[in-house]
Amino acid sequence: MSNYQPGILAPCPKLARYLSFSLEAGSKPGRAIRALVELADGDSVVVGLGQPLVRNLGGEIAGLRVFPTQFGSGLILPSSAAALWCWLRGDDRGKLLHAGRKIIAAVSSAFALDSVIDGFQYDGGRDLTGFVDGTENPKGRKASAAAFVHGAGAGLDGSSFAAVQQWIHDFQRFEAMSAKDQDNAVGRRRSDNKELTGAPRSSHVKRTAQESFSPEAFILRRSMPWTDGDAGGLNFVAFGKSFDAFEAQLKRMVGAEDGITDALFKFTRPVTGNYFWCPPMAKGGLDLRALGL
Ligand code: HEM
Repeated sequence: MSNYQPGILAPCPKLARYLSFSLEAGSKPGRAIRALVELADGDSVVVGLGQPLVRNLGGEIAGLRVFPTQFGSGLILPSSAAALWCWLRGDDRGKLLHAGRKIIAAVSSAFALDSVIDGFQYDGGRDLTGFVDGTENPKGRKASAAAFVHGAGAGLDGSSFAAVQQWIHDFQRFEAMSAKDQDNAVGRRRSDNKELTGAPRSSHVKRTAQESFSPEAFILRRSMPWTDGDAGGLNFVAFGKSFDAFEAQLKRMVGAEDGITDALFKFTRPVTGNYFWCPPMAKGGLDLRALGL
């Protein structure tokens, strides 16, 4: 299968810009979406559609929903319900700015720009806490099996469900932890990225160990650090053939199964939560036939 947006499977770019839009009240987004299709190649621009947009177009994508606020524990997570998401991928800030401006103008008849997040690679693929991120990502065929819809028919096969959360780090809190506590929070040793034997059950990699779920819960993570002024964190992005694997992991992270909360919450928290459907490709462009476009 090769009809997916290629930017999803490709390694993370050096730089990125994420644009999130809501629908203007009473707008008819068909024309704006057609204009976006002209600009989105699925590689330098990966596109995701949120449930508010799909509903507005009178469509239905099985499995697409608004990001839930509760995952079975007392912890309430933010849900942002964006209508449209564009992940601009590149290596030049100026080009990303101009590519973004073109998209904003193309969709402005129906969409309001809600947020712009600038992402980048830190120290060869680390989170801003210094831990390597992405080590246990599935690779090759396993990556496409995890990330893309298969066997659902033309218009759906090759599409992907993206879970996107902007996490903001409390660097003071993180720096107040000993190096050992930091390693225990992640479950890997920052110095050499080795998985810790005997990591606490609250450690992030124990919470999310993909093979420990039944069924196994593999996702393709393509998260990137972000900064704005002196704030920063991780723009978490996970692609899946559905949201099931992501939700299974998040349930464990918030302690829904056993009351143990992921130790990451000691120093970071999500400030947004969005679910998007990333359409497949046909003839070099986005394939929106599942929505009748
Ligand atoms: C600020 C938020 C987060 C940070 C800093 C973070 C960081 C990390 C790091 C450093 C690793 C270890 C290396 C690796 O395998 O990539 C990891 C693993 C992982 N993370 Fe996260 N993560 C965050 C949020 C999440 C969320 C929200 C999920 C899913 C709900 C998640 C799912 C996973 C998975 C599936 C693994 C691999 C586990 C395995 O199979 O070994 N992460 N993360």
